[in-house]
Amino acid sequence: MRVLIVYTHPNAKSFNHALVEYCQQGLIEAGHEVRLKDLYAENFDPVLRAEHLAELQAGIIPAKIQQEQADLLWADGLVFIYPLWWFGRPAILKGWFDHVLTRGVAYDYSQEGVTGLLKHKRAVVLITAGGSQDYFKGIDAETLIHRPMTDGTLSYCGIPKVDQFIYYNVPTMSEAERLAILDQVKQLGREFDA
Ligand SMILES: Cc1cc2nc3c(=O)[nH]c(=O)nc-3n(C[C@H](O)[C@H](O)[C@H](O)COP(=O)(O)O)c2cc1C
Repeated sequence: MRVLIVYTHPNAKSFNHALVEYCQQGLIEAGHEVRLKDLYAENFDPVLRAEHLAELQAGIIPAKIQQEQADLLWADGLVFIYPLWWFGRPAILKGWFDHVLTRGVAYDYSQEGVTGLLKHKRAVVLITAGGSQDYFKGIDAETLIHRPMTDGTLSYCGIPKVDQFIYYNVPTMSEAERLAILDQVKQLGREFDA
């Protein structure tokens, strides 16, 4: 498969960055063609300003966003890797969706409702968190986190298989726990198409 990894973290020494490396290795070992989109390295401007919204509503897609869409549509598999920030996606990733998932490319509306237009076979979402699993379970946070990214974005745009994985206690975990997760993520890459 052709897999696009969309990576969102400002620090190249972060655990998130290590997740990208291991996932990419697993995907390549399994024979997938991989492209990496590093939104901070690209310095992607996430704010959908009045003029951008007016262009979108007039069906005008700026050249920079056309390039982003070409990267998105090149792939038939997607991986998103990001830290949980205030129960959600970092603003730069949210803004990337605001600009790139345009009507007519990612979804369309009709009298019957919304039709997803993306043809990707699978998306995997890897999220790191500072909180503990017990805390998240206690407030049903997994559902809260799942809904905007999976239900509200990727499934909404037609991707039939979306799998979300949350890694807890990341700032305080031991080296052995980190390595175990990195191995799991490499394996996830190897089995992306299984
Ligand atoms: C702006 C900001 C908001 C955060 N919000 C949350 C949150 O809502 N829930 C949580 O469990 N952790 C939260 N965290 C902690 C991060 O998710 C955690 O530090 C990160 O996933 C660790 O991965 P890293 O070492 O690759 O940065 C937040 C951190 C920052 C900087």
